[in-house]
Amino acid sequence: MDLYIDTANIDEIREASEWGIISGVTTNPSLLAKEGQKIEDVIDEIVTLVDGPISVEVVATEAEEMVREAREVAQIADDIAVKIPMTTEGLTAVSRLREDDIACNVTLVFSANQALMAARAGAAFVSPFVGRLDDIGTDGIGLVRDVVDIFAYYDIDTRIISASLRHPRHVHESAMMGAHIATVPFGVLQKMASHPLTDSGLQKFLDDWKSMEEDL
Ligand code: G3P
Repeated sequence: MDLYIDTANIDEIREASEWGIISGVTTNPSLLAKEGQKIEDVIDEIVTLVDGPISVEVVATEAEEMVREAREVAQIADDIAVKIPMTTEGLTAVSRLREDDIACNVTLVFSANQALMAARAGAAFVSPFVGRLDDIGTDGIGLVRDVVDIFAYYDIDTRIISASLRHPRHVHESAMMGAHIATVPFGVLQKMASHPLTDSGLQKFLDDWKSMEEDL
């Protein structure tokens, strides 16, 4: 499973990309609004840090306008996946953008049927939102499992991005279910990299080494 970072914060993208683990970036209007910078400026910086698709969402809600906005967004850099919300207008936009060879990431996917429709419209990626389903007491990871099974059963090559991940267990379970990609907030990536036994084990190695040096 590939790891993308789910943020528009350049410092976070820079740090995680230095770890050598990031193969894409996803943003959304809320994440971009938090940074308070122009999209073009943020994307210009991201492309210098990450070699992989960058998802940028349209804010239009009607197909015609989504297509127009998507064509503009796709010009910003070479490897843009345009995020399109999972509505019937969105499906129309995706099927038109497929003809232009513009990769779309259909977002706000909360059911297997939505994922199937997005794939059939021609989405390059679909993003089931795990955490937001858990928030309302349903099984977010179960949705990832169902979408993985359906796409495998029908040989659908749309890639599944497990999204809205809130903690390391979500990432672990996404990998176990066979998601192609997990898009992970920076704080969750930090938690994934650490373990108390790693810290205490390292401390013990250093302490033992130091006491050996003192004895020599
Ligand atoms: O990738 C989608 C993600 O940004 C949404 O996350 O935590 O707002 O549900 P969240």
